[in-house]
Amino acid sequence: MSIPIFTDEVDTKGGWHGAQLSDAFAKRDVEAVFVSLRDCVIDLSLQSPHIQIPHFDESPKIAFVRGIAGGTLQQITTRLNVLHMLKMQGVLIYNDAKAIERTVDKAMTSFLLHQAAIQTPQTWVCESRLIAHEIIQTQQVNAKSPLIIKPLFGSQGHGVRLINKPLPLPMDQYVDGVFYLQKMVKSTHDYRVFVIDNQAIAAMRRRGESWLHNVALGAECEAVDDAEVNHLAEQAAKVVDIAYCGVDIIRDENGVLYVLEVNSIPAWRGLQSVVKIDIAQVLVDDCLKRL
Ligand SMILES: Nc1ncnc2c1ncn2[C@@H]1O[C@H](COP(=O)(O)OP(=O)(O)O)[C@@H](O)[C@H]1O
Ligand SMILES: [Mg+2]
Repeated sequence: MSIPIFTDEVDTKGGWHGAQLSDAFAKRDVEAVFVSLRDCVIDLSLQSPHIQIPHFDESPKIAFVRGIAGGTLQQITTRLNVLHMLKMQGVLIYNDAKAIERTVDKAMTSFLLHQAAIQTPQTWVCESRLIAHEIIQTQQVNAKSPLIIKPLFGSQGHGVRLINKPLPLPMDQYVDGVFYLQKMVKSTHDYRVFVIDNQAIAAMRRRGESWLHNVALGAECEAVDDAEVNHLAEQAAKVVDIAYCGVDIIRDENGVLYVLEVNSIPAWRGLQSVVKIDIAQVLVDDCLKRL
């Protein structure tokens, strides 16, 4: 069997993660082919709709999503639609496009967690700069509770900032016109838990030089096995209804845990460097099991 791995790094065959996945698929006699979603064609000229995927004459049984390149709203919608249409034609998409949509948007993830009574830091999302300023005034100035701002679709800690003065907020273009404000939880570290099929299979503590504990920003990784952290990550995965994910969790000074976000296309290089379990193989086996 041959399957596509959708990635925005076709030239490097998906990089380190691509190599891990390709080896793990090969162990199960599955050939992985690296393809960019931007090279697919929605062909509606024939009797039945056909999604052309480079290197595939017939629809694959599975498509593994390792990356969706950034682009205009139209481009990203088209790429996600390719995944939705493939699913409608019976292809198993891992992770499912709907789950990717729910989690790539930090506001939707926060909403789903909060609605399910899963501890997550207090958050406000708005487009109005005026209202954002009022929230900052109330929280930060009156209640002395520091706030941070995050890009709605961000990753790897890029653009996550502490609002350490009442003014100024970043200009609208830096946050794409949406202010995602969140109460800061003070901690020297956070946790990343890898959850597959609602089970925490590996976890680490991350310690950054600043309060940002992303591996991409140089945080140190240390394996942990904390039942409470694992359980919370599993709860979060269930709530966003996702096949696998990387859950970020932080513990405040009183020991209370909060879910920060759920990543639907998580990296696991840092985590793999401190745990024995072969993450790519567990992932691939779970994917194949769902067929
Ligand atoms: N509410 C918060 N309080 C304290 N630190 C936070 C908070 N939210 C995020 N962080 C820190 O910033 C990092 C990046 O935030 P996160 O929400 O995971 O976005 P990203 O998608 O960029 O990883 C987290 O790993 C954590 O170290
Ligand atoms: Mg994160």
